[in-house]
Amino acid sequence: MKNILFVCLGNICRSPAAEGIFLQLLAVKNLTKHYYVDSAGIVNNHVGELPDKRTRESTKKRGIDLISHSRQIKIEDLEKFDYILCMDQSNIFNVYKLDPQNLYKDKIKLLTDFRINLNHTEVPDPYWGNESDFDLVTEILFDSCNGLLNMLEKK
Ligand code: 4NP
Repeated sequence: MKNILFVCLGNICRSPAAEGIFLQLLAVKNLTKHYYVDSAGIVNNHVGELPDKRTRESTKKRGIDLISHSRQIKIEDLEKFDYILCMDQSNIFNVYKLDPQNLYKDKIKLLTDFRINLNHTEVPDPYWGNESDFDLVTEILFDSCNGLLNMLEKK
């Protein structure tokens, strides 16, 4: 069993979309039972909320319904999860702050490090953007989640 955590700032746009997309890729490949997948945010402003409506509309175009509720990352997550995939450098910086002794540094990575076709080195925050910004996030997440799963299944 591999434990995968996706992290963004608010856990209402990028990381819940990554969670839903990765779960769909697992389902297609019949790998669901081998993974535990979750997402969390750096801040607690949106705790308990469903993903942003614009995020849900964007993933819905690709056949994915997002049903998770926002939660804040906690120190125990660093122990529990094998891979902690952050959306941007600022998320990484803030997760590192939960790990002052650098015990878990090797688990904490940028999701886009696993990108296959796209050149984006971060997943940009779409919150203040428009529909095309949300759709770009969805595209980047599909590309990077595919690469992530390829890597995990080669191990
Ligand atoms: P996320 O996007 O980190 O992808 O969930 C954001 C959600 C909320 C806010 C910023 C980014 N906010 O400022 O409330």
